[in-house]
Amino acid sequence: MAMICSLKKVPSLYTLACLMISVAYASRAAPNFKVKAVNLGGWLVTEGWIKPSLFDGIPNRDLLDGYQYNLKSVKHGKYLCAENGGGTIIVANRTSASGWEAFRLWRISETKFNFRVFNKQFIGLDTQGDGATVVAISNTTGASEVFEILRRDDDRNRVRIRAPNGNFLQAKTEDSVTADFVGNGGWGDEDPSVFLIGFMGAMAGEFQVTNGYGPEKAPQVMRDHWNTFVTEQDFKFISVNGLNAVRIPVGWWIASDPTPPKPYVGGSLNALDNAFSWAKKHDLKVIIDLHAAKGSQNGNEHSSSRDGSIEWGRDDSNIQETVAVIDFLAARYARNPALLAVELLNEPRAPGVSLDSLVKYYKAGYDAVRKHSSTAYVVMSNRLSASDSRELFPLASGLRGSVIDVHYYNIFSSIFDTMTVQENIDFIYNNRSAELNSITTSNGPLTFIGEWVAEWRVKGATKEEYQRFGKAQLDVYGRASFGWAYWTLKNVNNHWSMEWMIQNGYIKL
Ligand SMILES: *[C@@H]1O[C@H](CO)[C@@H](O)[C@H](O)[C@H]1NC(C)=O
Ligand SMILES: *[C@@H]1O[C@H](CO)[C@@H](O)[C@H](O)[C@H]1NC(C)=O
Ligand SMILES: *[C@@H]1O[C@H](CO)[C@@H](O)[C@H](O)[C@H]1NC(C)=O
Repeated sequence: MAMICSLKKVPSLYTLACLMISVAYASRAAPNFKVKAVNLGGWLVTEGWIKPSLFDGIPNRDLLDGYQYNLKSVKHGKYLCAENGGGTIIVANRTSASGWEAFRLWRISETKFNFRVFNKQFIGLDTQGDGATVVAISNTTGASEVFEILRRDDDRNRVRIRAPNGNFLQAKTEDSVTADFVGNGGWGDEDPSVFLIGFMGAMAGEFQVTNGYGPEKAPQVMRDHWNTFVTEQDFKFISVNGLNAVRIPVGWWIASDPTPPKPYVGGSLNALDNAFSWAKKHDLKVIIDLHAAKGSQNGNEHSSSRDGSIEWGRDDSNIQETVAVIDFLAARYARNPALLAVELLNEPRAPGVSLDSLVKYYKAGYDAVRKHSSTAYVVMSNRLSASDSRELFPLASGLRGSVIDVHYYNIFSSIFDTMTVQENIDFIYNNRSAELNSITTSNGPLTFIGEWVAEWRVKGATKEEYQRFGKAQLDVYGRASFGWAYWTLKNVNNHWSMEWMIQNGYIKL
């Protein structure tokens, strides 16, 4: 049917009949072409690993939101610990550091921070008691949760921490940590107010980069990035190299452009407008992908999580706010001929995001798109870590033009640790192919491999091996009823850059 309808010169009656058929069959009709897309990752939603240099100008750039540190008392040689993971006092009696000894930063300024503990409380002073005991009880931040980190000039991991009462924190004994050290400015090993900060984890997303630069510098830095990282030239490149669409990750703050809530900065909407006009000019389609929802749907930097927590979908108002973002985007681009699809939410993570709230959101998000467009496809991403890859079928099967998005990477699971080149390729032809078959049904939603990459855990593979791996994926993912999208167009890591892979002959379309 799609072929007949795409014939250029058909008698008008015939066209009409054809139209009617396509309306009648629209619920199961695949687009009259398979999507062969590339993601514009790291453009309108920052991912530091894609372009690390974006973070270069941030002062104290190793003290960003979501960075995790442990604090070791030099005097006792023991780590600070939120006893019970939080809810009570801080102690200094642990010989090794893991979850309860990890403190997540919320950056207030270059030198001032909140510290969040395992159970999510913030470190503060015991205001009910002596005012000096250091506790992790408060669920919120205020003046009494702000601490200043002072680093030693010639040994930046040696720190003292000034509490809101003006005194320094000290590990008085192994089971008493207090903020009552007046301080002599020394850095000696006998000083109970001196700690070594030990790095335990980083984050490098939109929250980190904008809050890291701060309101003075972030607007210019981000605008420069948006104007240079992806340009019209790239759309031309994409178009002449056999691709027909782009999937563009956006963040929830785009809907309140030009004045999004802090620390986000305005301008990404203008960049998305540009993308639509370049797409039209170079005959490409656009899939808008809400990659970062308020509160974060997966705790990753690519959903702009502040500190690794998943807060999205906890209540109706959060869901409604996210529906409003979709409504905004659909209203703005529904009549643009380049719009192919709206993806409601990228990679929500189970169990942090419950199936119930996700279904509620997808249903409302679908309606928001349909309010403005009867033709745009509506893409629903499966939950990461969900055991049933058909869990959205009861919802999606009943919705015309719905698409299920699955992401296939031979990387993020220990099953790939020891796979050889051939085993990886066999896995694509056998296992991925079977997985894809199981979700590609004649009466269910369309299927989309919205992210994949010709990268693996194999070390030192040859170009020819990469080519075979890429080809296997193109073969199998080409059978998805909606299509696929490579992750991503540009990346300092070559194999993750489709531009590099095409220019260097690793991928041929
Ligand atoms: C913090 O939140 C937890 C869990 O919701 C609650 O049990 C606790 O009472 C709250 N603590 C304070 C100090 O409000
Ligand atoms: C650390 O100190 C607290 C408070 O005295 C105590 O309850 C806990 O058992 C101690 N833990 C270790 C590992 O010594
Ligand atoms: C891939 O599929 C084969 C055949 O069904 C199965 O034996 C194998 O365990 C699967 N491999 C993995 C890593 O799941």
